[in-house]
Amino acid sequence: MPSYLVTGAAKGLGLEFVNQLSADSGNIVFAIVRNKATATQIADLRRTNVIILEADVDDAKALQFAANDAAKVSGGQLDYLISNAGRSSHSGFTLSGYPTPEALEHDVLDIFKTNTLGAIHTINAFLPLLNKGSGKKVLVVSSALGDIESTVSWEFLGAVSYSISKAALNMAVAKYAAEYKPQGFVFVAVHPGIVNTGMSPTVAGGEGFARELEMIMAANKKANPNWQGPIPIEESIRKQLDILHKWRIEETGAFVSYNGDKVWVP
Ligand SMILES: NC(=O)c1ccc[n+]([C@@H]2O[C@H](COP(=O)([O-])OP(=O)(O)OC[C@H]3O[C@@H](n4cnc5c(N)ncnc54)[C@H](OP(=O)(O)O)[C@@H]3O)[C@@H](O)[C@H]2O)c1
Repeated sequence: MPSYLVTGAAKGLGLEFVNQLSADSGNIVFAIVRNKATATQIADLRRTNVIILEADVDDAKALQFAANDAAKVSGGQLDYLISNAGRSSHSGFTLSGYPTPEALEHDVLDIFKTNTLGAIHTINAFLPLLNKGSGKKVLVVSSALGDIESTVSWEFLGAVSYSISKAALNMAVAKYAAEYKPQGFVFVAVHPGIVNTGMSPTVAGGEGFARELEMIMAANKKANPNWQGPIPIEESIRKQLDILHKWRIEETGAFVSYNGDKVWVP
C-alpha cells in the first residue's frame, strides 16, 4: 500500500494533493494540518484512507511527534513526502522600501522560518520513515518567484521575503539531493503554476496586497505577454504528481515548473 504525506493539507494545493492521492483506495495518505478542528474540507472528502495529523512546520518537535504517530500506523515507513506548506506576507514592499530595518528583518525571518526551515524540519522528521519506504521520493512545492535569473529578467521587485525563502528552499533541495543520491532518493522542487488559492494576493488580502498584485501582474506580463491567467488546481496537482511518480535519480535536485520544464509562465 503506497504511503504519502502532505503538509499544508487543510486547503489550497495541499488539499487537492490529498484529494487526488486518496481517490485511489490503495494509497494511504497522511495529511498534516495546523489545526484538526478547522480542517473540515479534508473530513468532507470522506476518505477512509486519509489520516489527519497535526503539526505546525515551524515547530520541529511537533513534526517529530507527527512522524512518530505516522510510523505507528505505517509500520515505520513512508514512501513519498510532499512538502507543500507555505505562506507569503504580501507586504508589498521592495527590498529597499521597508519602513524600518526592523520591519524588513521581521518579514524576511518570519517567512524564511516557515517556507525554508519548515520544509527542512519536515524532511528531517520523516527521513527515517522514507529510508524504510520503497518510494524514496520528496517533492517540495517551491515557486518561480525563487528563480534568480527570472527575477532579474522580469524586473520583479515584490514578494521579497517569499522569493528569498523559496530561492533558499531550492538550495536546500539541492543539498538533500547531493546527500541522499547514493541511497537512491529523488528530491525535486516544483513551481506549481499560478493557481487561485489562499496564497493569491487577491484572496489573502493584507495591507500591501494591492501593491504586490500590481508588481506580480507586471512581472507576469513581462514573462509571457500572452499569459492566460491562473491554471485549474486539478491540473497543477495532476502534473506535479506525474513528476513525483515519473522522475528518476538522474533528475534529483532539479527545480522545475509543473510541466517539468523551466517555462515558469506558460
Ligand atoms: N497558489 C499559487 O499560485 C502558488 C504559486 C507558487 C507557489 N505556491 C506554493 O504552494 C504551496 C501551497 O500554497 P497554496 O497556494 O495552496 O496556499 P494556501 O491556500 O494559503 O495554503 C497554504 C497551506 O499551508 C499551510 N501553512 C502555512 N503556514 C504553515 C505552518 N507554519 N505550518 C503548517 N502549515 C502551514 C496553511 O495552513 P492553514 O490551513 O492552517 O492556514 C495552508 O493549509 C506553498 O508552498 C506556496 O508557496 C503557490
